[in-house]
This record gives sequence, structure tokens and C-alpha cells, in this order.
Amino acid sequence: MKHHDPTAPLPPEYRIRQCRREDLFGVIHVDAMAFAGHDLFPGFFFVQALDICGDGFLIADFHNEIVGYAIAARRQDEVLQGWILSTGVLPDHQRRGIGSNLTAQVELFLARAGVSATVLTVDPENATALRFYQRLGYEQVSRFPDHFGEREDRILMKRRLN
Ligand SMILES: CC(C)(COP(=O)(O)OP(=O)(O)OC[C@H]1O[C@@H](n2cnc3c(N)ncnc32)[C@H](O)[C@@H]1OP(=O)(O)O)[C@@H](O)C(=O)NCCC(=O)NCCS
Repeated sequence: MKHHDPTAPLPPEYRIRQCRREDLFGVIHVDAMAFAGHDLFPGFFFVQALDICGDGFLIADFHNEIVGYAIAARRQDEVLQGWILSTGVLPDHQRRGIGSNLTAQVELFLARAGVSATVLTVDPENATALRFYQRLGYEQVSRFPDHFGEREDRILMKRRLN
């Protein structure tokens, strides 16, 4: 398979922009298709994410169809940290650089907001996501047992932004 540069620009038919309220049905559809067979976010999660994440909630648009999304937010502990809460791309549009571009854009949002490192959690059985984030510079830093419930371990991945 031909490998593409994850920093390469997307084909011009794709546009990444901030999510709007009217996009949410499309986002919910992407989530259902991307995470088919797994626990999905309830629809109201996306409404609330839109309320609090602002520019950290991005979608990928292809001829007015929502084909991908990424949600990120800041958290202030000892340091200001960025969280990527979820990323999904419609199966028919995967491997074209959309996920990489969405991630790069939410990282830009987080960096502008003063964040120095971004973290996220991945299902240890989700080899695609582990590979995807590793390729974008994320490292596995720890594993949380039963993080989302019984036998729902998650791997914490981290990338320094500066
Ligand atoms: C993970 C996901 C968001 C990637 O989106 P995408 O638009 O396909 O990503 P990109 O095209 O930018 O892929 C970049 C690289 O990630 C890796 N990758 C992506 N999909 C892969 C797959 N199915 N198998 C192996 N590697 C894969 C590859 O290295 C790829 O580069 P390449 O195509 O040049 O080999 C998408 O596969 C998805 O929605 N998966 C289901 C939901 C999910 O697991 N989300 C992440 C956890 S929150």
C-alpha cells in the first residue's frame, strides 16, 4: 500500500472546519460507523462537547457530508494539558490523511491555547489507532486497568507539542 506523509495537505474536496450544531447528526453517524461494534458516545455527549470545546471540536467535510471529526479540550493540573477525547473517520474515507489532518489541527488549537503536551487514551486492542497515533509522534506512557469499566483497559499516549 502507498504510504502518504501524515503532514501532507488533504485533497481539495476535503475541508476541515469547526463543528456547528447542525453538523452533529453527521458526527454521530461518523462515530457509529467508525466505532461500529464498540460502545458509542450517547448523542448528548456531542452536544455537550460542542458547548465546551469550541475550536477544539473539528469536522472534516466532503461535498457537504461530514466524514470525520476530532474533539479536544484543555485541562489545568500542575501544567496545562491537552486531551484528545475522540477521533473518527468514515471507513470509506480512511487512509487519505483525514485523521492525521484533524489531529494536527486540534493540536494547533491546543498549542495556541498554551498547552505543552497532548494526551489521549486508546483501547489496547485497537491496533489501528495505536499505529495511527504512534505515527503522529505519540508514545505509550502507561496503561490504566479497567479504566472505562471491567476489562476496559486503556493505554495513555502522550506527545509533547513544543
Ligand atoms: C484512527 C483513524 C481516526 C485514522 O483516520 P484516517 O483518516 O484513516 O488516518 P490517516 O489517513 O491520516 O492515516 C495515517 C496513518 O495511520 C495508520 N493507519 C490508519 N488506518 C490504518 C489501518 N486501518 N491499518 C493500519 N494502519 C492504519 C497508517 O500508518 C496511516 O498512514 P498510511 O495510510 O500512509 O499507511 C480511523 O482509522 C478511525 O476512525 N478508526 C476508528 C475509530 C478509532 O479507532 N479512533 C481512534 C481512537 S479515539
